[in-house]
Amino acid sequence: MNIIKAEDYNKMSRMAANFIAAQVTLKPDCVLGLATGSSPVGTYQELIRRYESGELDFSRVTSINLDEYKGLSPENDQSYRYFMNTNLFDHINIDKARTHVPNGLEENAEKACADYNALIEQCGGIDLQLLGLGNNGHIGFNEPDASFAKKTHCVDLAASTIEANARFFQSMDEVPRQAYTMGIQSIMQAKKILVIVSGAGKANIVRDAFTGPVTPQVPASILQMHPDVTLIGDKDALSLLQV
Ligand code: GLP
Repeated sequence: MNIIKAEDYNKMSRMAANFIAAQVTLKPDCVLGLATGSSPVGTYQELIRRYESGELDFSRVTSINLDEYKGLSPENDQSYRYFMNTNLFDHINIDKARTHVPNGLEENAEKACADYNALIEQCGGIDLQLLGLGNNGHIGFNEPDASFAKKTHCVDLAASTIEANARFFQSMDEVPRQAYTMGIQSIMQAKKILVIVSGAGKANIVRDAFTGPVTPQVPASILQMHPDVTLIGDKDALSLLQV
């Protein structure tokens, strides 16, 4: 695993954007696996800046997002589709028809998941997967569990995740209790993985995930088994790692 320590969130974001920009430049028709949360916002801003300055062209890129809240429509400002549109897609020349997020409005979980698995296959897999890290070690919405879930599935969100994500909603009651998420197998099949982490609050889980035992109780720990992972973190998030 390649570990890069950045001075702060902005530098982390610039380094992560370099990484994604290199992927898009080397393979203009690449498939990017994208993530939501506060960690990638700066990275997306930096990618937008590079698109605006003519350095980057997303016209042939396909994107596949990790997850979506079950029950939220794309127009709901807390849905991950809305997040991706407003934080990235609306500001670059990606073809929206080639941007994919699980369908939160599909009530039939089996269908929603089967459709998403078929889509990932149809796209030929993911060239570069961007990941944030949940406070409990989740990636996408793969929560701590007794085993690693392989493919797209419907999850009951952990109480700590509902609590952590409540900051984006008016009240705790509004936070969805379930989500559709890409599974660990689909994430692990990505050719390259880029994890970004920032803030002292992530230091413990970063240490556990990247130097502790590989266990489904810390879903991100499986990344230790992937042949091409880069972790970019600010110094606070990496403070408990020997880099
Ligand atoms: C959510 C998302 C994850 C994300 C995590 C961490 O639960 N489903 O994909 O990585 O939050 O979010 P943040 O980057 O805001 O810490």
